[in-house]
Parts: sequence; structure tokens; C-alpha cells
Amino acid sequence: MSQPKEIPLMEKIVSLCKRRGFIFQSSEIYGGINGFWDYGPLGAELKRNLRDTWWRAMTRQREDVVGLDATIIMHPAIWKASGHVDTFSDPMSDCLLTRKRFRSDHVDPQSGTVYRWTGAADAVGKECHDPFSVLLPAGKPPESARKVGAQFYALRGLDAPALLGETTEKVENSRAFNPENGAQLTEPRPFNLMFKTYVGSTATEADVAYLRPETAQAIFAQFKNVVDSSRQKVPFGICQIGKAFRNEVTPRNFTFRSREFEQMELEFFIAPDEAIRLLYGSVAAWSESADLSAPQPNWGWEMWHRYWVSQRTAYYHGIGLGSDVLDYHWQTPDELAHYARACVDILFKFPFGTDELEGIAARGDFDLSQHQKHSGKTQEIFDEDLRAAAGKLDAAAKAAFIAQVSDEWAARAARNGKPEEEARTAANDFCERLFKGNYVPHVIEPSAGLDRLALAILAASYHEEEKLDVNGKPERRILLRFHPRIAPVKIGVFPLLKNKPDQVAKAREVYDLLKRSANCFYDETGNIGKRYARQDEAGTPFCVTIDFETLGEKGPELKDTVTLRHRDSAQQERVKISDLSALLLPQIA
Ligand code: GAP
Repeated sequence: MSQPKEIPLMEKIVSLCKRRGFIFQSSEIYGGINGFWDYGPLGAELKRNLRDTWWRAMTRQREDVVGLDATIIMHPAIWKASGHVDTFSDPMSDCLLTRKRFRSDHVDPQSGTVYRWTGAADAVGKECHDPFSVLLPAGKPPESARKVGAQFYALRGLDAPALLGETTEKVENSRAFNPENGAQLTEPRPFNLMFKTYVGSTATEADVAYLRPETAQAIFAQFKNVVDSSRQKVPFGICQIGKAFRNEVTPRNFTFRSREFEQMELEFFIAPDEAIRLLYGSVAAWSESADLSAPQPNWGWEMWHRYWVSQRTAYYHGIGLGSDVLDYHWQTPDELAHYARACVDILFKFPFGTDELEGIAARGDFDLSQHQKHSGKTQEIFDEDLRAAAGKLDAAAKAAFIAQVSDEWAARAARNGKPEEEARTAANDFCERLFKGNYVPHVIEPSAGLDRLALAILAASYHEEEKLDVNGKPERRILLRFHPRIAPVKIGVFPLLKNKPDQVAKAREVYDLLKRSANCFYDETGNIGKRYARQDEAGTPFCVTIDFETLGEKGPELKDTVTLRHRDSAQQERVKISDLSALLLPQIA
């Protein structure tokens, strides 16, 4: 997935984010805290706008999705049921020399000669028998490996250590050494990513709870309450936006991999394909030419999954991330979780490489079934139409149906290395429940990161161009070409000259008028060129300047008109104040 690095652009973005108040390092005055970021005035507005576009697209503009706002700390049993307590870990390794910690699978593979020592001794007879090794890349002198070896033993109290039992070996693409100094890394060991805390004042092991590592599980845990209270029927979805926390081994790439971040997740619940087959005789088959524009009753998981990929793609296009900056990675069977039918990552071409923006997974009934098993509370829904459809089958048809489902489940179990007989028994029970109209819904999960989206938007919008200043000298213009819908500030409003009370008063009037419907920024300091440049860097799509013409000083026909400047083209036009709202608001809503 990685592409050639373009670090300078990333550095420019980080610097602009700090300079203009988009993103600051958390706790910076105390030296910062790795993996945590604060959003400044412009960043907070940008994030809010992105959140709002997602919420609107995913629930307010749909009849079949409702929202949830759950707590960050939940009953720890939720994380046991979901598998996070036992398996939500990354492999980590430490450098034996510097103690620096690496995520083992993120270490760049290296080739060269490994120098190994069984130990070391010094002139006063002190010995250390800890084995140690160093990878020496081709072309470097052996002495540099030995120097690192000597440092290792010096740290163990030896003075000018002599290395013992040296052997060498060629290795290819090894992740067992620190890329910065060649020193040996510890064997990878699992590191659970959940942040632990205690609920209550006794702070014993029995009080352990976790900061949620994803927002999704609350949706599963509240599934039944939402069904019972919202009059939604499968297929339908529950979405949530909120903070998630992961104690990432190596947070990196600015906000891309943070320890505290925000997710925007939808769990879209659908009937299992077997239920669709009972109800409609067959399940709509996916093909490249399939019409995904409107959901159909006979859709199974594959059509729903494709549908959500196309919906999410359309969402990104609608906020200015086009096909030129997006890509897709369809997970291979080896990459898929054992319960998942399919998973596609929507990728963005970040300056540091193409990487995941959102994952869209078809997760079967894994999540609700796990909660059913662990909580002892049924997560099934009842569908009267399904019961009626099954009621029309005679005994032979039912037996044939069970045989078909049983064969399918056994084949899937075989593919996943699971016992086939267990799968057949489970298929039998499942069909009996299905004939009564009961099933545990399956789920399609589009799961996006808000901070990653904000970073993607910043990277896609960043633009520099050379232009001539008022004196004809070349100067660099930096602008953020945000889609007006997500721009933090929509309209900058300025009097041309701040020492002209009439201009200032009129500019205030226009600002008061526009700020009722859009986030506006009033500015009267510095020359007008500097004010435009500041708004370009903030990504403000429109600037309105109140000037001599506005006050009728250049002829009555221009009275009550303003200069409207467009960020991307820097073109200016004259517009009546009374036309401003009608002209601008549709572009920013
Ligand atoms: N419920 C599924 C789930 O959490 P995930 O792929 O682990 O799946 C979904 O996370 C999205 O959350 C990712 O595509 C990414 O946008 C965002 N995300 C995950 N870990 C993140 C991190 N450490 N920092 C910022 N965003 C992260």
C-alpha cells in the first residue's frame, strides 16, 4: 500500500495546522504527549462540519438509519464478548539497546549481515553472558556493528567490553532489528491496545473497565433497545459518532494513528441470506452491472455490502475527495477475520502513502451472536412474513432447504478450518429457528475515522501557487481549497479601510446579516491583501469587502454592492448585499 514518501508536503501541512489553529500537539506546554492532538478554532469547526455531513448523510437523510450516543466506558463484559479483551492486540518489540518500542509488523524489513555475540568481558574480568546481535547493512564496515555491540555490553556495566564468540549470518528482509541502529529487537509479544481504568473508589481488579476502542460495540449492546423503541425493522441501521481510544504502540503520521480519536460508525442490520431465500425464492446476485441506486427486498449481504461501498464513495465525492485521491483494498481471504464475509478498505492517498480512511465489513452475525452468548439475552428478531413464508413449505421442501443450508455452512467451516459436523448441527438449529420467523441479524459495518478524514481533507485541499504581488514581485499563495460545505469559515467580511467609520459600520451590518446562516469571520486588521491571504490559508471560500462603492461614493448605481472574492480563482465580482445570502447559502449548505 505504501508509495514514495513526500515528507515535505506533510511537514507543510503540519506547520500550517499549527500556524492557523487547525491542530496543536496536546499538552504542548509540558512537552506534549505522544499520540494525542487538540483541534484549535479552525480545526474544531472543520471537524464539526465533517461530523455534520456524515450524520446528515447517514441518518437524517435516510429513513432506515437511527442514531445512538452511548457512553465511552461500558460494562467490561462487552469487551470480553467482542473479543477485544483476548485478541485486540498488536505485536510489539523493544530495541535491546535503546529500549525504543516498535510495532513489530511496522518495522521496515532489512537485509545484510547479522553479527552475533555470546557475551562480552572487560579488562578487570567482569563478564556478561547475555547474547546480542546487530544487523549490518551491505557496504558498512564490521566495526560499526561491533561498536553497537560494545554499547550494549557497556550498558550492562562493562568498561571497554571485548566482544565474545562472534559469528555472522546473512539475512534477507528481517524485521528483527532496529532500523535506526541495527540493534536486536525483542521477540514480538502481544500488547493489548485497550486503555484500562477503574470504576469506583476501591480500584481492585474487579473494578477494571476500559475506554472503548471502537464505538461499534455500544450499538450491538443496545440493538434490542433500539429495535423495541424506534419502530425500525430489519434492514435498518444504527449509527454513532464518538471518541475511541487505543493505546497504539507507535502512533504516527500526525493524527493518522492517534491514541485518542473519533470514529463514525454505522451498523446496518440485514436478514441472513437464508431468510431472503425463504421470503423471495432467491437472493439477488451481485454483478458489475448491478443497480445499487435503491435497496431491494431480495438483497443479500453481498448487494448490501456493495451498496454501502457505493454510498460511502458518493459521500466522499460530495465533500471534495474524488476518485483521483481515493483507492480501494479488497481484503483477501487470508486477511479477513474468520467471521467476515468481505471487507473493503477505502484508502486515501496521504502525503506519506496510500492508507486506510474507512473499512466496510460484512461481519455476518458474529457480533450480535457473541453478545447473545455472553449476556444470555436473545438478540434475535421475529419476522412474521418469514414465519408465514416457511409455513407454506411442506416437510420435503423444508428438509431440502435444511440440506442446502447445511452443505453451505459445512463448506464455509471447511474453508475456515472449523469442524464441519458442528457447522451442520448449527445449520439445522438455525433453520428450525428461521422457520419460526426468528434470526439474529447480520451486519454490514462502514467504519470511518473522523480525524483521518480531517487529515485527508487537509491534504487534498492544500495548494500552493506563485503569483505576483501588488509591486509585481512573485509571491507564494497558500490556500486550502475546502469544499464550501466543510470549510471552517464560510465567509470573511471586511471593511476595506478600518479608519472609515461608515465602512466599518456597514461591514458589521453585513457580518451580522450573514452570520445568522453561516460561520463568518470579521476582520479589519492589516491591508486587504493580507486579509485575503489569511482567509486563503484558512480555506474560506468567499470574502466580502465593503468599500467606497458600497457606500455610494463611486456613483449611486454601485451603492449597497460589495466586492465578492472567490478563494480558488481569486476572482472578484460586484454583488448586491441583498443578493448575497441567496447566492452564497446554497453553496455552503
Ligand atoms: N468497528 C470497526 C473498527 O473499529 P478499525 O478499522 O479498527 O475498525 C475504523 O477502525 C476506522 O477508525 C479506521 O478506518 C480509521 O479511520 C479509524 N481509526 C482506527 N484506528 C485509528 C487510530 N489509531 N487513529 C486514528 N484513526 C483510527
